[in-house]
Amino acid sequence: MDIMEAMRARHSVRSYTDAAIEGETLAKLEAEIAVCNRDSGLHIQLVRNEPKAFDCMRAHYGRFSGVRNYIALVGRKDERKLEELCGYYGEMLVLAAQALGLNTCWVGASFQKVPNVFQVYSDEKLVLVIAIGYGETQGAPHRSKDAKAVSKAENAPAWFTAGVEAALLAPTAINQQKFFFTLQGSAVSAKSGLGPFHKVDLGIAKYHFELGSGKGRAVWL
Ligand SMILES: Cc1cc2nc3c(=O)[nH]c(=O)nc-3n(C[C@H](O)[C@H](O)[C@H](O)COP(=O)(O)O)c2cc1C
Repeated sequence: MDIMEAMRARHSVRSYTDAAIEGETLAKLEAEIAVCNRDSGLHIQLVRNEPKAFDCMRAHYGRFSGVRNYIALVGRKDERKLEELCGYYGEMLVLAAQALGLNTCWVGASFQKVPNVFQVYSDEKLVLVIAIGYGETQGAPHRSKDAKAVSKAENAPAWFTAGVEAALLAPTAINQQKFFFTLQGSAVSAKSGLGPFHKVDLGIAKYHFELGSGKGRAVWL
């Protein structure tokens, strides 16, 4: 599965089997995390075989079950774009995981922090986590806004339309899809509306847009 196929196949999965992440899959995931940390300056960590974070009322209420692996998105408190970076690089990991046959779910609220299972230095904070593992199911597509509600362009070129379509496949907190893309000349401005984790959502949606449009990072104003 390539990364575009992974984008279409990915849906949030909240119930996981006992199958462990191991061998080549684990090595590739760890390598991808190392690349993300090198490129972003974040301190992303994979936590394995730790069921306590998802053994709480919030997780049960959120219908999570069997979660024992998660990715902790940690970064420096003084990083101005911390939330957006977590979204961007976290989604890079989510799609890489999907391509490796794993399933995921972004989790901002439905978990509890467990001390001493990952590192958070005094100048850092945990922004949120991503549950990861082998799903009981592959999840289901979310309801989506249409392209007009999240973008503006005169005579939109095909690459812009493809970018917006890819962004609409992105996970967002409570499926809010509050991002907005405007074509300005040959570049694009991306803005987020207000809502929980809207800056994380923006980073996620921008990563999808870059992949879908085929333009990469150079597309942003
Ligand atoms: C930043 C962020 C935070 C999220 N937090 C939670 C959460 O706390 N609990 C939960 O059940 N789902 C959470 N989700 C998952 C969303 O509900 C889900 O992505 C959205 O409904 C779209 O569905 P999909 O991911 O299957 O496309 C979160 C998603 C994002 C992007």
